[in-house]
Amino acid sequence: MENRSMYYADYLELDKILNAQHPASFETGNEPAHDEMLFIIVHQAYELWFKQVLFELDFVNGVFKKSKIDDNSEDLNLVRHRLDRIIKILELLNQQVGLIDTMTPLDFLEFRNLLIPSSGFQSLQFRLVEASLGLQMDNRHNKDYYKRSNEGGFRENDFKAITDSESKISLLTLVNKWLQRMPFFENEFWGKFHSQFPANDALHPFWNDYRNIYKDGLTEREASRIKDFDYVFFENKGELTDSEITQLTPALSASAMRAALFIMLYRDFPVFQTSYQILDALVEIDNLMAGWRHKHLAMVRRMIGMRMGTGNTTGGGYLEGALTRHYIFKDIAGLSTFLIERKKLPKLPVELIKKLSYN
Ligand code: HEM
Repeated sequence: MENRSMYYADYLELDKILNAQHPASFETGNEPAHDEMLFIIVHQAYELWFKQVLFELDFVNGVFKKSKIDDNSEDLNLVRHRLDRIIKILELLNQQVGLIDTMTPLDFLEFRNLLIPSSGFQSLQFRLVEASLGLQMDNRHNKDYYKRSNEGGFRENDFKAITDSESKISLLTLVNKWLQRMPFFENEFWGKFHSQFPANDALHPFWNDYRNIYKDGLTEREASRIKDFDYVFFENKGELTDSEITQLTPALSASAMRAALFIMLYRDFPVFQTSYQILDALVEIDNLMAGWRHKHLAMVRRMIGMRMGTGNTTGGGYLEGALTRHYIFKDIAGLSTFLIERKKLPKLPVELIKKLSYN
């Protein structure tokens, strides 16, 4: 067999990539619009990075799908490392909005009408990123837009790929299961726990103390937060109204929320560090996605004002709704509402510390 040496352009298949820019305005009969090349290249660069994000998410979800994850193995460290990579990519994608901003609204108008009814709205990979993180169709802003088969909607096979991806287990669900499996509150570790408050049969001794310390730390104006605490961590509805319950209900289960709060509180224990960094990375991914939505929205406002999008949505109005509603890990970010001062943290029993230490 011929021993062919590798060649840069062949390895990267540059003939395909560099021959995939065909501005519609350059076609015969149209007036060439200089900035359409930038518009195409920026979108293509985004799509390449979305591909890498999906590749990393696939790995992360694969690890969480294992029936048992050993906290001391490389698994969690690799998850953290790959989530950090996604963060770096999203930071880059945030910066790239600045490149599009070098195009003026008049430059864009030169070719805008040639794009109708296509739009970034139809980016399949962007939707797959959202879905594999955990965004469900029912939680999408203006979900009817997604189901249209008329102009600006998805092609049938793309729509199917998005709904298929939503039916697969998402990172949000996997993280929920992972947190639920944490064995911190098993009775064997808490026999020698020194409670500071009278026992409450309905609550684990740790949570009874924690609840009392949290309650005592609330100011008069914040006093009602204890009702939120009881619902979010113990599903105790108390006197909450239906609308308060709808607002408060986390995407994670009460036991997963307890484990996540516990990790946040005791993150200085070495064994919790990676778990804490993973939770923190998820919040950062949400923030960077929202940051991108915000930058894109501001750019769109400048570019098209109050006009409709080429994809036939209300434009800025739709994008603003998506920005507010499409957070995925907001319950983890919201845990800060329920923190107490470090110096008041209940002292953990020796048995549990032994379990939590590496040796
Ligand atoms: C001149 C530049 C741009 C304008 C005026 C613009 C405008 C819009 C508008 C109005 C929408 C709402 C859907 C519609 O009706 O079309 C939209 C959605 C979207 N655009 Fe852009 N866009 C621009 C550049 C980009 C770039 C460079 C990307 C990179 C991939 C992008 C990705 C998206 C995505 C992913 C959505 C869906 C957002 C969501 O549902 O949260 N756009 N865009």
